[in-house]
Amino acid sequence: MAESVLITGGAGFIGSHLADELLAAGHRVRALDSLVAQVHGGAGRPGYLNGEVDLHVGDVRDETAVRRALVGIDAVVHLAARVGVGQSMYAIAEYAGANTTGTGVLLEALLDRPVEKLVVASSMSIYGEGSYLRAEDRIPCVALERTPGQLERGEWDPRGPAGERLLPVPTSEEKQAALASIYALTKYDQERMCLLFGSAYDVPTVALRFFNVYGPRQALSNPYTGVLAIFASRLLNGRRPLVFEDGRQRRDFVNVADVVRAVRLALDQPRADGQAVNVGSGQSVSVCGIGEKLAAVLGSDIQPEVTGKLRVGDIRHCFADISRARELLGYEPQVGLEEGMAELAQWLEGQVAADRFDAASAELGARGLTR
Ligand code: UD1
Repeated sequence: MAESVLITGGAGFIGSHLADELLAAGHRVRALDSLVAQVHGGAGRPGYLNGEVDLHVGDVRDETAVRRALVGIDAVVHLAARVGVGQSMYAIAEYAGANTTGTGVLLEALLDRPVEKLVVASSMSIYGEGSYLRAEDRIPCVALERTPGQLERGEWDPRGPAGERLLPVPTSEEKQAALASIYALTKYDQERMCLLFGSAYDVPTVALRFFNVYGPRQALSNPYTGVLAIFASRLLNGRRPLVFEDGRQRRDFVNVADVVRAVRLALDQPRADGQAVNVGSGQSVSVCGIGEKLAAVLGSDIQPEVTGKLRVGDIRHCFADISRARELLGYEPQVGLEEGMAELAQWLEGQVAADRFDAASAELGARGLTR
C-alpha cells in the first residue's frame, strides 16, 4: 500500500473528502492546492480540510512547487483542474494552462521522482452526448450533435444520422470521446497524458471518469460549478433555480463519498491499471427532478423555473454504465440519491452562499454562450 499520497487539488471539494478517506485508511496525505479564489473565496486553508493534511499552497503549473510537493510521496492523485464548462469557453488559456500544461509539469516532475501509482480525475464531459439506441428497433445509434436550428426550435433531444428518434442508455467507456467544450478537451488531455505516461514509464495509472459529483463542501458561491450547488445557492437565497432547455435532460449524480471510495479502490489494487473507468451512481435523474428533490429536502416550496434557454456546449443526456468499475475496482455505489440529498441539505443549512449565478449568467449571455 502506498503510504504517502499527494493529492493535487487536495483542498477542494473532492480532494478534501479523499483526504479524509485516505487518512482513515492509514495513509499520510499531502495536498498541493493553489486555493483558487473563485472556489475558495480568497480565504486561506479551508476549515473543512482535515488537520492532518500537509497542505502545500502552490500551483500545479509551478515546477518548483510540484517538485517540492513530491518529496517522500509514493502515489499521486491528480485532481487539480479548473472545472467550469461555460467559463472554459472564454478563459481558454487559463483552462489549457491549469489543466493541460499543469498535467505536463506534474508528469515531467514524476520522471525524476517515480511513484507506485498515479490516479487522474477524468470526466464524463469527454463523451459529449451519451449513448443511445434507436427508439424503433433498439439498435445502438450515434446521436448527432444538436444543430443550432434544432435547439432554436426547442427540439431538445438529439437524433440519429437519418433523423431517427433515440432513447438514452447508460454510457460505457467504449463510447468514443466527443469533445464539446474546452473544459472537456483539457480533461481528455489530462486523462490521455497520464495514461500514455503510465504505459511509457511503467507507472500503474488509472483514469477515473467522474460523472456529476455532489455533496457537502461543494463551492456554493462558484457560479461555474455543478447544477446542484447552483440550485442550492439559489434556493438558499430565496430565488427560483433556472433550468435550461425543458429540464428533462438526464444526468448521473454520484455522491462524493462514493467517488472517493472509487479513488481509494483504484489506489489500493492493480486491476484497473492502464484503464479509464466510469465512476457514477449508475442511476439517472432529470434536471427538473433534481431541482424538485433538492427543494423538498430543503423544505422549500420554490419551484424551478424552466427557461427554455440553452447553454452552448451542453449535452442532452449522459449517465454512467458502471460495469467496468464494478468488475475491476469492486466498486459499488453506497449512497442513494435521497440519502445523499438529505445529507447535503443538512450541510447547506449552516452555509452562507453568495448567489453569483446572475453575474455569471450575464457573463455567459454577453458572450453568446447562453441563448
Ligand atoms: C459538466 C461537465 C462535467 C463537470 C460538470 C461540473 C459536460 C458534459 N460535463 O457537466 O464533466 O464535472 O460540468 O463542472 O460538460 N443546468 C441548469 N441550470 C443551471 C445549471 C445547469 O438547468 O443553473 C443544467 C445544464 O444545462 C445541464 C445540467 O443542468 O443540462 C447539468 O449541468 P452542470 O451541473 O453544469 O453539469 P454538466 O454540464 O452535466
